[in-house]
Amino acid sequence: MQNNGVILWIGITRVGEKFLPSVLILELKLYLKFTNQAYGRHIDNYYVMNIDDVKIIQLPKLTDPRGNLSFAEQKNHIPFEIKRTYWIYDVPGGESRGGHAYKEAEEFIIALSGGFDVIVDDGINRKIFTLNRSYYGLYIPKGLWREMTNFSTNSFALEFASTLYSEKDYIRDYNEFVKFSGNEKT
Ligand code: TYD
Repeated sequence: MQNNGVILWIGITRVGEKFLPSVLILELKLYLKFTNQAYGRHIDNYYVMNIDDVKIIQLPKLTDPRGNLSFAEQKNHIPFEIKRTYWIYDVPGGESRGGHAYKEAEEFIIALSGGFDVIVDDGINRKIFTLNRSYYGLYIPKGLWREMTNFSTNSFALEFASTLYSEKDYIRDYNEFVKFSGNEKT
């Protein structure tokens, strides 16, 4: 079910010397977007996020003649509590990884070395994010299809996840994902 709530505000506004009643109606989705809050929708027991909530997050970078340093803190630069980390490396030319969605896990991906593309899909819209700097991370909320392609030689992808590994959290079939996302064309 789509989350299409509205915010209704009724008040008194001063215009010059007069006080006039005023009414403001704002679509919830727009309000959350303007206040930079995540919006999504409930489907069965899951909260499925919108593709607009996928974000490139710039991490601190301390340049230093001795070598640069970057870092990421949970619930700060990484918008969730980290339960697990894993990394992908030695990817042969032309290979892809991660063609699946998670029902619960949120992820944060950094290209620690080299570069690759992350394709994110909500069942209707598709976006491609190129990661090739170690001080940028890509935040992917739960409930979105994601795939990693175009790995450069010697690329190294570091991934943080908000859950422990569970095969039950995966949707590995794209058609099943489209059904899950509620974006199935009827
Ligand atoms: P998977 O997430 O399917 O990788 P990809 O989608 O990139 O192909 O993981 C591949 C295998 O590794 C799978 O059998 C499960 C295992 N695995 C773990 O045991 N723990 C983990 O944290 C991850 C990410 C994978």
